[in-house]
Formats: sequence, C-alpha cells, structure tokens
Amino acid sequence: MDRIRIVGGNQLHGVIPISGAKNAALPLMIASLLTDDTLTLENVPHLADVEQLIRILGNHGADISVNGRRERQGESYARTIHFISRNIVSTTAPYELVSKMRASFWVIGPLLAREGKARVSLPGGCAIGTRPVDLFIEGLTALGANIEIDGGYVNATAPEGGLTGGRYVFPKVSVGATHVLMMAATLANGTTVIGNAAREPEVADLAKCLNAMGAKITGAGTGTITIEGVRSLSGARHRVLPDRIETGTYAMAVAMTGGDVILEDTEASLLDTALEAIRRAGAEISETNSGIRVVRNGAGIRPVDIVTDPFPGFPTDLQAQFMGLMTKSSGVSHITETIFENRFMHVQELARLGAKISLSGQTAKIEGVGRLKGAPVMATDLRASVSLVIAGLAAEGETMVSRVYHLDRGFERLEEKLTRCGAHVERVSD
Ligand code: UD1
Repeated sequence: MDRIRIVGGNQLHGVIPISGAKNAALPLMIASLLTDDTLTLENVPHLADVEQLIRILGNHGADISVNGRRERQGESYARTIHFISRNIVSTTAPYELVSKMRASFWVIGPLLAREGKARVSLPGGCAIGTRPVDLFIEGLTALGANIEIDGGYVNATAPEGGLTGGRYVFPKVSVGATHVLMMAATLANGTTVIGNAAREPEVADLAKCLNAMGAKITGAGTGTITIEGVRSLSGARHRVLPDRIETGTYAMAVAMTGGDVILEDTEASLLDTALEAIRRAGAEISETNSGIRVVRNGAGIRPVDIVTDPFPGFPTDLQAQFMGLMTKSSGVSHITETIFENRFMHVQELARLGAKISLSGQTAKIEGVGRLKGAPVMATDLRASVSLVIAGLAAEGETMVSRVYHLDRGFERLEEKLTRCGAHVERVSD
C-alpha cells in the first residue's frame, strides 16, 4: 500500500494548477444518465472516485470515452470525458459498487426519472458520521415515488406516467439530496419547488449543465430551486468548475509553511469564508487574472475561531486542514463542526506531530504549539488525510502518511503539485 513521505520545513513558491471539482464532477457524470444523447464534460479531475463512478455508470449501460487531456509541463491534469447512455441496461446499483463511494447512491435520481424505477444499495463512503438517506427518500416521495428499503437496498418506483412535480422543503441542508431531487425533477410532469436547498457552487454548476441539456431550472445557488419538468433532455458540453476544497487546502498549506504561491484556474468567490479565515490567520490573499495569490512571509500565525456551516459558511471539507494550520498559531483557537458529528479523526493523528488539541462535543480547542515535529501518521478519511500532509510540510523532519488511498480519492497529483513548489514530498510504494 502506498505511503507519502514528507520532509518538512520548506516554504512553498510557485504555481499550483487547481483541478476541476470532484464534488461537481461526480453529480455531473451522474446527470449523463438522464439523456440518451452525449454529455461531454471538460476539466474532469483524474481521481479514484471518478474512476469508480465510471465503473458504476458503465454498469447502467453508459458508453464512456476519455480524451482531450490538457497538457501542462508534460503532465496531464484534466480530462475531457464523453458519456453516452443510449439505453439503460440495468436500474440496479449493486452493493459491491455503491459501498465504495457514497455519491454513487445519487444514480437513484436519474434512473427513477428516466426508467421509472431504481434499486440502489444503501451507500458507503468516508467514515465521518452516519450520513443516512432519509432526506433523499422524503424528497423523492414528494415527487410521487414509492420507496421501500429491503435487504440493504432502496427500491424506488415512479407511478404510471412518471414522477410528478411537487414541493419539498428540506428540514436540513443536504448537498447530495439537493442534487438528486433536482435531477429527478427535470423529467417530472409539472413544476417542482425545492426549499432549503443546498446553495453550494456545485449545485449551481449541476443546474447550469442540466439547463444546457434542456432542463428548466431557476434559483440554483439560492435556497429555493424551481424546476419545470420537460419531456426529455439532450446532450451538452460543460466545463467542471474549479475545486474550491483543493484551492483552500493549498492556500492553507502556504499559510502554514510560508511562501508565495499562485493558485491557478480557480476563483476566490467559491470560498470567500475560508479565504477570510486564512487572511485573519495572517496570510495575504489577492486575486490575480487567473486565480488567487497566497503569500505569507515571516509573520506568525494568529489564532482564529471557525464554525463549519453549509455554503456560504466555512466548509466542513476544509475543517481538518484549518485545524492543521491552527496547531501552529500563537494562541488558542476553537473549531466547531456542525455538519458531521464524527469528523475529528484527524485530531489524534495531528497530536502525533505534537499538536495540542482537546475535544468537547462538537468543538475542538487548539493550543498553538508553534513547532510541529514529523512522525508516522495514518490517513483516516479524504480531507483528514490532506490535513496531515500539510501539517507534515510545516513540521520539522520526516512525516510518513500511510493509507494514502484516501488522498487519491480527492486530490489530483498532490505530490507533483507540491514538489513543483519546493516541497519535499514523495510517494513510497511498499
Ligand atoms: C457532500 C460532499 C462532501 C461534503 C458534504 C457537506 C460530495 C460528493 N460530497 O456530501 O464532500 O462534506 O456535502 O458539505 O459532494 N443527511 C441526513 N440525511 C440525508 C442526507 C444527509 O441526515 O438523507 C445529513 C448528513 O448526515 C450530514 C448532513 O446531512 O450530517 C450533510 O450531508 P450532505 O450535504 O448530504 O453531504 P453529502 O452530499 O453526502
């Protein structure tokens, strides 16, 4: 199993190209099941989760071809992928495939809307809380679906004549359930209104693509989304928006190690709250023509309190990385996690590097230690694992991160991007 070896202490200087967003690419790929025409997605990151979803879509009958690699300095960073689901050959998404990645559960929306039925295994994914599917079930039921859970599978059927438009107000914000309801409603009879919808940029990106395919969606990116159902969707070409979590992660890495880095092909407006927190911690952040410049020279890191929240709040997917940054601050900071109840598994690993963190319920208290020391650590989930990498960059001596398959699920060419900026990071295969 691969590990990542980091020798800390180097500042970061240079340019880091930001990839297309994993969390946008996955629902966009799933949307290809809604049409028998070709959906072409550009700027798709090359990640284990994308490869896994390609296998899942193939199981439903999608014909998928990859080309148009965008070359940069001899390396390919993004791909153009064509999806054609001329016929849906199976409406079952089996446990063996769905258990590897929670987002694959989302095929339930397009399958139900297009074929009138879907049998999808209850999901797996990162071990960061229970993450039930009640909101998906309630939302799809509001569109007329009949849903039963049996033997670990969710069996959904649409009434004769298909789903019907309905009104559903989420009792709690869910990104995935918003994606699914929006996709299902595109082909329903009549108009659907989704209240308390997730406002994440990835939801707006999906709506933009669906509209290019002929859907009639307004309000995506706000708390109320209205979808006027259409009879069928056509093909389209769409470019995946930049990954705001990758952007924030590298910005925090620079804030932690010091240096001067341009994050290219990204947009500050995708992560204002996180950038503001990094600024308050002491980094200078400015917008450039193609992205964001992050600089921290000399000055220490100030303690900053944050609370995770749905967009536009501070993203839970940057919580672990921000905790890494705070371990080096000059005082005491507090981080409160409100989205996932169990998302503090990085705490004990950061402690192995010398961090002083105590937990009380959903809040972590971080006493800055100024100095971290390298150690062997274990990646526990996708975002937690990258917090260990950036902490390792700022620690003295060697940090060895094991179980890096978590990183490969969500960070494209992590070692290369960091090495180009002067970091000492290498993958070690056993
Ligand atoms: C997505 C992101 C993930 C991010 C999360 C929150 C993708 C592929 N993943 O995950 O990286 O951390 O949003 O920003 O885009 N919930 C329920 N019932 C449900 C569904 C969700 O109670 O039926 C709860 C979850 O347990 C969690 C909260 O709602 O506490 C938010 O989860 P949700 O927004 O659905 O996360 P995902 O879409 O799975």
